[in-house]
Amino acid sequence: MPGHKLGCGIPEEFLSSIEKLDLTEIPGLDDLHDPSGIIAKAQELAAGAFGAERSYFLVNGSTVGIHAAISAVCRPGQHLIVGRDSHSAVINGMLIAGVRPYYMMPGYTNTFGICTGITPWEVCRALDDIPDAAGVLITRPNYYGICCDIEEIAKIVHSKNKVLIVDEAHGPHFAFNRRLPVSALEAGADICIQSAHKTLPAFTQGAYLHIGSDRADMGRLEYFLEMYQTTSPSYMIMAFLDIARAIMQRQGTRLLDSLLDSLEACRNSFGGREMILDKAAVPGFDHDATRLTVNVGKLGMTGFEAERILRQRYNIQSEMSDASNVVFICTAADSPERVGILFAALEELRQAAGKSFGRDVDTRLKKEQAFSVFGERVHNCMRNMHAIMGNNRYELEPSDILNAEAERVRLENAAGRISKGIIAPYPPGIPLVCPGEAISRDAADLLTGVIQAGGRVHGISGGGTVAVIKR
Ligand SMILES: Cc1ncc(COP(=O)(O)O)c(C=O)c1O
Repeated sequence: MPGHKLGCGIPEEFLSSIEKLDLTEIPGLDDLHDPSGIIAKAQELAAGAFGAERSYFLVNGSTVGIHAAISAVCRPGQHLIVGRDSHSAVINGMLIAGVRPYYMMPGYTNTFGICTGITPWEVCRALDDIPDAAGVLITRPNYYGICCDIEEIAKIVHSKNKVLIVDEAHGPHFAFNRRLPVSALEAGADICIQSAHKTLPAFTQGAYLHIGSDRADMGRLEYFLEMYQTTSPSYMIMAFLDIARAIMQRQGTRLLDSLLDSLEACRNSFGGREMILDKAAVPGFDHDATRLTVNVGKLGMTGFEAERILRQRYNIQSEMSDASNVVFICTAADSPERVGILFAALEELRQAAGKSFGRDVDTRLKKEQAFSVFGERVHNCMRNMHAIMGNNRYELEPSDILNAEAERVRLENAAGRISKGIIAPYPPGIPLVCPGEAISRDAADLLTGVIQAGGRVHGISGGGTVAVIKR
């Protein structure tokens, strides 16, 4: 990220005098909070391009769209059914809105050591368990490009007359090529939020919120969008939301075809095909083939190590790494040459690993210690936590968590304490511990492992402390 790759995906004419796009609400330039001119027109064009009933420009990333969507759909005290693999934007959005989470557990693939996603069956079960929930929020695709069966999930959610919100932060490009997974809007999402800046030629913080049906209360949605967004929205961000839409509408299919062809060709000649995540590795799920997840654990190194080597030796910056994988976001701005350079480096890494890694690196041990998304051990720790907290329900109300006094304790002393904030390996920003949840010994050990292995964790300060609720 950002998806324009240092401007490669944007025609020079838009970049050469970029400062001239930094404007404000003077006559003729419309108003994001009450659009009737050029912004209204640009949003209408976006709705047409993405297949929405209506689209809104967001200048504070998908984060603000997720917050507004949750506030609009749920009333304080209501439940929202969400995957436990949701991004921190979702967890914070529920806290802000006073909404109680009802968590569905995602599946997990041992081969890659990552979460796959939520099955339609989980959604069915959750809706049966909590029939008065306001709606369901699904994250799709996840950071690794894995896509749950959103068409089936939409049918289930709508059969119960509930609203389906999809966090499609990583999938705004889906609408522009049939070789990619179906877009959430096409599958029936009522509200869909996309980070244009992640995979389209848009600027950081640029995002869209799309409406797919009349199930959501538009008055409430617009009320919260206005409340949560700045009164000084960046015209540069908004201009590039429009430019990204135009580029993708005109050339997206061709550019993505070229990207997919070069990825496929490189993958076919790569010696470690089985190291790359694809649809076959996640039965029951779809996969975005532009998202490259390479399991370097098979080479006897952690993703963190691979990321470091790629940056230092090959001048290649990956998007993220975890205990076993290194992840690359490939976009329409990546030429076949760039894809070729990446695969040449991966091939060298693979061959060098055969000689110098593997023998003396205990991958299994590293996998146990270093960790990015919650896996088997954390599933267990989550189950324990649910036992402590009582049948997958928060004992603490969101307002209790927000208003509780906090103190900082060292991570090694935090087991058994209730977390005040989100503790999330970053990226991907999926909380291992959410506010109001007990920090288990397993979680504390895993987080220590992530830091020791070179990962970053939001919620743990430089001094190794976490904020917990005062006893
Ligand atoms: C799944 C998911 N949802 C939401 C977000 C938040 O998006 P943004 O950074 O555009 O606010 C992210 C960011 O990484 C994400 O990965």
